[in-house]
Amino acid sequence: APDIISHCASASSNLANTKDTIRGVACCPPVLSTDKPKDYVLPWNVKPRVRPAAQRASADYIEKYQKAIQAMRDLPDSHPHSWKQQGMIHCAYCNGGYTQEQSGHPDKQLQIHNSWLFFPFHRWYLYFYERILGKLINDPTFALPYWNWDNPSGMQLPAMFEDNGKKNPLFDPLRDAIHLPPAIFNVEYAGADTGDSCIKQIGINLSSMYRQMITNSCDTKRFFGGEFVAGNDPLTSEFNAPGTIEKGVHTAAHRWVGNRRMANGEDMGNFYSAGYDPLFYVHHANVDRMWKIWRDVDMKRHKDPDSSDWLNASYVFYDENENLVRVYNRDCVDIRRMGYVYERSEIPWIRSRP
Ligand code: C2O
Repeated sequence: APDIISHCASASSNLANTKDTIRGVACCPPVLSTDKPKDYVLPWNVKPRVRPAAQRASADYIEKYQKAIQAMRDLPDSHPHSWKQQGMIHCAYCNGGYTQEQSGHPDKQLQIHNSWLFFPFHRWYLYFYERILGKLINDPTFALPYWNWDNPSGMQLPAMFEDNGKKNPLFDPLRDAIHLPPAIFNVEYAGADTGDSCIKQIGINLSSMYRQMITNSCDTKRFFGGEFVAGNDPLTSEFNAPGTIEKGVHTAAHRWVGNRRMANGEDMGNFYSAGYDPLFYVHHANVDRMWKIWRDVDMKRHKDPDSSDWLNASYVFYDENENLVRVYNRDCVDIRRMGYVYERSEIPWIRSRP
């Protein structure tokens, strides 16, 4: 559990090039009050927000979403809901901003990647981000879109994120120009373009998704990644044990979208800067959807971790009302209870056993 108010420092780790960190490494959240964060209680009985597949989103929806992101960009940087502060959350939790001071290990960093904290942390991060966007446009039903890269119809960068010549708030200039549409995303991208035809790439993606979701994710540990508890040092290889999806398609998309000409692959290609690209949250919505699908395809064998270390791990966020709240893994295991669902999309890789 991070102590985000009194024990936060500038980002220092996971930066390939510490000199050219153009997005800035001062990532600690603003302190609005000295009160301790309150335990968050999920609202009851709400009509679920429906997250649409980005490639099928209607013009009305896109307009609404653009309006919300624009409103976020218009807030002063110091506001906890601003584009800047929302992006900084990722930097603080992922580049050594927090130490495990509160759990009695001030010499160890907190890192929510490369371990079983990956899925729950990002689920909560999106949860508040989505509610903040909804609040900014006064729409309590607003839901984030998901980048449906596991379906052939969604394997390009979603069109709504492109530069449309009209100051599109969803556009981020720090993306790899070579991978803009019509390029097809490679779910195994590791820095080199293969030059495969789009038909071939789609086939490769589908069998790879099968491998990542089924063959290589046969148990809890493989899917979620290694355990990471207080006192563990994320800078050692022992605790660098990402689950199959985190290591696979998740990281591939970060690298594929980030600008190869930037010193740290900004924005998407580095933890410290990824949160500044609106596409980050839409990519992670699909990663989150993979968690849900993984559980649904084999309810007997595909189970969430059940140890109390995992269930009671917590994070701290500003909610949509600017209250600092503490949230626990145990409260994010059921997306219905969290008040959102994913619009249905075909899952063709399920029939693509390699
Ligand atoms: Cu926190 Cu996709 O990384």
